[in-house]
Formats: sequence, C-alpha cells, structure tokens
Amino acid sequence: MRKRNTRKPLNTSDKKAVFEAIVKGKGRGSRDVNNLLNSAGKRPYPSFMLGSKAKVPRESYYGWKLVPEIRSALGKAMPGKHIPGSVIKEALYKRSAAEYEKEWTTSPKERWKKAPKVRIYPQKGVQTTKQRMAQWAKDITKNINFANSKNAELISPELKRKIAKNGQATLVDLGTGAGKTVIPIIERLNTNQRKKISITLIDVSVKDLKTAKQLLTEIGVPSQNVKALKVNFGGVEKSRAIKNLTGKADIVTAGASLHHLSKSETIFRQVNNMLKQDGSFKFWDWSHPAWRAGTLKIAPKNARVSINGRAYSYKGEIMRAERGTAFVSQEIPKGRGSFKARSEISQVREMLSTWVSLLNFPQAERTRFNKWFDRRIKSGKPINFESYLQKLEKTAPSKPAQIEIMEGHKLYKLYERALRGSGLAPNATRFYSESNLLAHYEVKKK
Ligand SMILES: C[S@@+](CC[C@H](N)C(=O)[O-])C[C@H]1O[C@@H](n2cnc3c(N)ncnc32)[C@H](O)[C@@H]1O
Repeated sequence: MRKRNTRKPLNTSDKKAVFEAIVKGKGRGSRDVNNLLNSAGKRPYPSFMLGSKAKVPRESYYGWKLVPEIRSALGKAMPGKHIPGSVIKEALYKRSAAEYEKEWTTSPKERWKKAPKVRIYPQKGVQTTKQRMAQWAKDITKNINFANSKNAELISPELKRKIAKNGQATLVDLGTGAGKTVIPIIERLNTNQRKKISITLIDVSVKDLKTAKQLLTEIGVPSQNVKALKVNFGGVEKSRAIKNLTGKADIVTAGASLHHLSKSETIFRQVNNMLKQDGSFKFWDWSHPAWRAGTLKIAPKNARVSINGRAYSYKGEIMRAERGTAFVSQEIPKGRGSFKARSEISQVREMLSTWVSLLNFPQAERTRFNKWFDRRIKSGKPINFESYLQKLEKTAPSKPAQIEIMEGHKLYKLYERALRGSGLAPNATRFYSESNLLAHYEVKKK
C-alpha cells in the first residue's frame, strides 16, 4: 500500500523562509542551500550554469536537477513540511533575476575578476589576460556585428517609411548595452531622418546606456529624443516606465539580450502592449539545442524530438530522457521563407566547437573536437561536453586563467511558442547561411 503523505503544506511564513534561503541566502536552511548552489557555481563551465548563475532558460535549465537536494536541505530546517518543487523553482527564478542584475551592473573588468578559474591552454601570441579577453571579444563580436547589421537592414526601411508617413517614428531597444543593435539602424537613416526619430533604450546596466546615448547623439539624434531607462526584464510587468510606453512604439528591437530571461512570454506581452497597431518587433538571438543538458543523445532518424529535448516519439512510442540527458534531433527542418536551419546535430557541433575556441584552446583542438564529435555521432555514443572539456584541461599544458562563460541560448521553436503565447504571432524566423546559430524573428502587430 502507498504510504500516505502526512507532511503539512507550507504556510505563508514557511514560504517566505524558502524564498529567504534561496533568493537571499539567509535564514533557516540557507547554509546548505548556498553550499549546494555555490559548489555547482565553483566548477568550471558548463556546470557553472548551475545554481545561482541560473541564467539558462527554464526549459533547458539543468540546474533543476538540484531541486530534490534543495528540498531535502530545506526539509531539515522545516521538518514535517512539504516544500513543493514549484515554490523552489519560483525562488530559483528570483535568485537568477537578482544575479542577472548583479552581473550586468558590474563592469566587464569586475565580471572578469569574479569569474571562476579555468585552466586553459595558452594560445601562441595570446598570453596575457588582456590579450585573451581581446581574442574572446573578437570571436564574439564578429557574430554580433553580423547579426546586428542584418537586423538593421530589416528595420531601417520600415523606419524610413514610418517617418515619411507620420513625420516621425518611435523605436524601443531592449537590452541596449553600449548600442550595437540600435546604432547600425540609425546609421542607415539620413541626417534629416535621424532628427525625426525618438528612441527609448532599455537595459539593466546604466553605465552602458550612457555610452549608447552619447553615441546616438554624436551621429545626429537630438539628445532630447533619446530616453535611457534602467529596467530589469525580470520586473517588466511592474515597471511604470514600461507601462508609459503602451501603444507608443513603431518598432521594438532587441539583439542578443532576450536569452537572459527565463520566461520570454513576460517580455513579449509587454512588447505587444508597447507596439502601435501595424508596429513591428524585430529581434535576433542565438539559437541552438547545445545547452539542453550536460549529456546529449542523438534520437533515431525520423524520431520527433520535443522542444526541450526531454523526450522523443518514434514509431508510436515515446522515449523519455534520463536525468541530466537530453535528445538531439537528426531531422533537417523544412524551409519556410528564408528559413534554412541545419539539423540540430550540426548546430550543436558548431556551438560546442565555438566554445572550444572561446576557451582559447588553439584551432587544432577545435578540429580535434569536431573529429571526436563526428566519431561519437557515427557510433551513436552520447556527447558529454563537460567531461570532454575536463579531459582537455587535464591533458593540455595549461596555465591558470580567468574566463567567464555561461549562456543559455534558446531554440527558435521556444521563442516562437512564447511569441504565440503572448499574443504576438511570428511571421518568419530567419537563419543566415553564415551562421545557423543566429536566429532572426520578425513579428508584426495586427
Ligand atoms: C549581449 S548584450 C547585447 C547588447 C546589444 N544589444 C548588442 O547587440 O551588442 C546583452 C544586454 O542585455 C542586458 N541585459 C541582460 N540581462 C538583462 C535584464 N535582466 N534586464 C535588462 N537588461 C538585461 C545586458 O545589460 C546587456 O547590455
């Protein structure tokens, strides 16, 4: 006979204690919770994604696997109480939102100092921390600049049309940073058009916003037309500044900033509110299934893999992934508009080998990784990137260095689903042949 659950539900003060312990690291059970989350945090990438650095999306957040341990740690402090997983997860979201803010409001230099130590293979000619940072920035910048310029190509003609029709246009940029998404858009306007544009820049980091505003005024946008708002995406629903934008935006844009959110629907709903009728939302982000879980398994040919990779269906049967693993599909998505995504396997290969480079291992290591990956796929063996990196770090002649790596990129299907869930229907998702990791979304408000 099944044992009856005799544990009592949480009352308000217990719930508050769970939040105090997880979000603030204070009070009953907090020491054990912190130990759990921090021990995950101290390990180099990709375990660094766990715990308080929970900036990976909910759907692929393999930090969820800590929920049972957190529950038992808190259970000791609250004997006889049942702590639902949903309460623990909600508190983990809150903790991660606070972490975003902390991370993005510190300067890159401080972020670098705080980053965990990872043993890396020094690259010839790239020895000092400064040089390594420059190298890393170069690799990332190439992709970001490419995506931002494509984004600007799509937005600027529409802005010009609106200015011609209405005498002015309003643009909102989410996660502006130092302005790499918004500036290429404005640079495509002529001097006169630049004077007729109103821009709202939104970011959690004020320091970068100041830079972006200054750069925009330098290229001819009147200073009174540029508003810089400090808003954390995590709190958009309650933000008065965001509410004030209701029905005001002709175009909303975002470049590489929305993957920092666990619940995309929240921000998409606000975008829907901000847009005028016939307004557009055009944004881009990284998209690939590589961070679904620590260990990736390839689903059989013709199997249909679920969006989060936790299961697949094949010949009428459903196969679920074990803990810590996820499936990757072999299917090549069908073309739709200019959408030309490659298979999930090749996206995972591209992303993981990019990280081998970003960790500053030499090109030869990247080639070796690709060969290893191909052999694993051919023999049907799982891909465990973390243990691959651990072996690489042990065998390679290495020097201690500091590097910060933690990302949680979302699959395009997740964004599309969240867009629909928020009342916005995506028109087309574009991938570019130059990089199948950069997905571009175009949405029109009807
Ligand atoms: C990778 S940068 C992209 C900046 C710029 N759009 C570009 O393309 O270079 C991501 C930006 O998102 C902002 N960001 C991250 N998390 C955020 C949050 N929770 N709320 C608001 N902004 C956030 C960061 O401060 C950062 O400026």
